[in-house]
Formats: sequence, structure tokens, C-alpha cells
Amino acid sequence: MTPDLLNYLCEPITKASLQLIDAVTDTDGHIQSGQLVSPSGKRYPIINGIPRFVEFVPTKTVESFGDEWNHFNFIDFKVNWLSHTVLNTFGSVKAFKDKLIVDAGGGSGSQTKWFAEYGARHVIMLDLSHSVDDVVQRNLAGFKNVDVIQCSIDAPPLRDQCIDGIVYCHNVIQHTPSVEKTAHALYALTAPGGEFVFNCYGLDDEIRELVNTLQPDITKILNMDKYFLRPAPIGCALRIFR
Ligand SMILES: C[S@@+](CC[C@H](N)C(=O)[O-])C[C@H]1O[C@@H](n2cnc3c(N)ncnc32)[C@H](O)[C@@H]1O
Repeated sequence: MTPDLLNYLCEPITKASLQLIDAVTDTDGHIQSGQLVSPSGKRYPIINGIPRFVEFVPTKTVESFGDEWNHFNFIDFKVNWLSHTVLNTFGSVKAFKDKLIVDAGGGSGSQTKWFAEYGARHVIMLDLSHSVDDVVQRNLAGFKNVDVIQCSIDAPPLRDQCIDGIVYCHNVIQHTPSVEKTAHALYALTAPGGEFVFNCYGLDDEIRELVNTLQPDITKILNMDKYFLRPAPIGCALRIFR
């Protein structure tokens, strides 16, 4: 875990600040283990460089995703990601240059890796599954500006309005218990000028309404027409700026 991550971390739900104790760092100054303590005394461990906020027991879906990622590594799909998701959502990889990016429900870590490769300043991947201790380690080895947090994206342990770049949630939100709750929790992380980017299979009417609730100013929402085309351009996601 990079020391920089401490600037963004907080307790999930209460959003209280956390104090680092018993830290053990490696030769790069990255924190390998320690405890993050909330004002109420609650402790969240850092194990193998990953802060853990896992009081939310992974659902069966999350567990099976972990098994799947560890078995089938999607790292070879970069070309598809570039020609579908990146092209149809952002136009080009220039959108990632120098950005602080949260990859919510990052799965195998492949997109986190590609954001870093295309010049992101810092990428913070969030996932609840045990993929964070297996395939994610393999895919993200050697990146110095990448952090992984094991947590629920329904209650991310990141400060409100601390992400001035991109909060990205791709092919995930329909798997959470409440799309609305997760979308609000993730949009809350975006700072003014930052954007929340997400897609959701189906639920078109609900998603239109949800987007309006998040951002009533339609000039700050990109891809609305494209996203709701049927068939939609593959990989197209909504971009909602704060
Ligand atoms: C379909 S995969 C998508 C992975 C990646 N975003 C992609 O596009 O390839 C969904 C991922 O979301 C994670 N996930 C599902 N619900 C979650 C939750 N509530 N909190 C954190 N991660 C969650 C799963 O563990 C899985 O890795």
C-alpha cells in the first residue's frame, strides 16, 4: 500500500478518519502490514500490503467471481477493452493520463493495470473477492502507483469528494444488492471536476432516473444518447461529472 493512500482512506459508512499504527514498510516505503484504527477503536488490518475492510461477508456471487478471475485471467483482452470500452466511453486512452482513478469492482486487476500503463497518476482498485490475493497480485506486480483495497463498493473506505479523476465501475453494479445505493456511494467519492463512470446491464428506466438524481444538470452527463441506443455501442458507459 502506498503511503499516499492514507490521504484518501477513511472508515466505511461513518467516514471517520483512520490512524495508522504498527506499520511495517518495505524498502520502497510501501506499507506491508499494520492496523488502521478508527476514533471508536475499531481496527482494520493491512495484510500483504492490502487494507482489509471485510466485515461485509462476500456474497456467493462475489466468491464465485474470485474463483473465476483466479482461474481465467482476462489480461489478454486489452485489445477488446481499447476498441470497445475505451473508444465508446472515453474516445481515447488520453482520458487516463495523469488521473487519479478508482477501479470499483476491479476483478482481475486487468483494467487497473491498463489505466496505469496509459499514464494514470494513481489507481486504487476496490474488490471484495479473494482475487485480490491471487490473480490481482500477478497482474499488478511491479506497479508503484497502484493500490488495492479489499472492501465492498457499497461502502467504500474512501473520503467523500476525494477523487478528482475517475471513479470507474465497469460491469459490476448490477451484481450489488442495490444499484441505487452503490451508485450513490461511488458518486459521493467524486470531487468537483471528477467523474463517475458506470454501466449496468438492463434496468434502462431505473438508470435514467438514477442518473438524474445523481446529477440534475444534464450538461454534466456524457454518453446519454449513445448509452441508451439499442443495440448500444459495446462497452459504452455513462460519464457523470460533479
Ligand atoms: C463482472 S466482474 C467485473 C470486473 C471488472 N470490472 C471488469 O469489467 O472486467 C464484477 C466484480 O465485482 C466484484 N464485486 C461484486 N460486488 C461487489 C461489492 N459489493 N463490493 C466489491 N466488489 C464487488 C466481484 O468480486 C467481481 O470481481
